[in-house]
Amino acid sequence: MSTPQILVFDDKSYAASTAAVVAQVISECVSQRGVCNLALAGGSTPPPIYKLLSRADLPWAQVHIYFTDERAVPPTDLASNYRMAADSLLEHAPIPPEQIHRMMGESRPADAARRYTQTLQGVSLDVVLLGMGRDGHTASVFPDDPDKLSARGAVPSRSPEPPTERITMSLSVLSRARYAIFLVRGSSKARCVQQVLEGGVVGRLLPAGLVRSDEVLWLLDTGAAAHLRNPR
Ligand code: 6PG
Repeated sequence: MSTPQILVFDDKSYAASTAAVVAQVISECVSQRGVCNLALAGGSTPPPIYKLLSRADLPWAQVHIYFTDERAVPPTDLASNYRMAADSLLEHAPIPPEQIHRMMGESRPADAARRYTQTLQGVSLDVVLLGMGRDGHTASVFPDDPDKLSARGAVPSRSPEPPTERITMSLSVLSRARYAIFLVRGSSKARCVQQVLEGGVVGRLLPAGLVRSDEVLWLLDTGAAAHLRNPR
């Protein structure tokens, strides 16, 4: 794993700047490998980024969509990460439907996790997009999760915030991606960003600090970067 790269954008340009960086990485993936296996982040930060990404001139026919995590709700539920991605990206970019690999939030989490572990068999993830909570969780891997280091494949998890029941890619799956791109904005995240990126071993043991992909890129807005001593 190389040293995490950090890019800081002002709040006004954050969505456009991060969408441009993600588009560039996707485009490079496809030109180098003929395909881009892209796993989407959930939460409230991605939608404006995904909307802009859906308008980018990208080789969508070579892009496969995965999900880093999902809430245990039906895909039509407003809390569904799939629904958020569909509304902001999947229904607007020409991605072949058979290349969209949804986590089955409507199933029992253990069943959905088993099924997604099979979906991931033989898949080499190129890019995982990730958010980070104020507690340092990422995807739906939470700090007090006893299995967070040993889990393999996709696993069920429980969030302290509702919706409680989740399915998530494990840290081992996330860390095998070539690129992990954190999309983190807002001053409420600043203390945890500083802990993960500059806080030594304590920060590196938070789930967001345990993603050990080949390339780790943090795309921050000025609020989220506010406590960094030396934002690159
Ligand atoms: C989810 C996400 C979760 C999210 C962080 C940040 O399903 O909610 O996977 O990890 O990325 O909690 O969420 P915000 O973008 O809403 O701050």
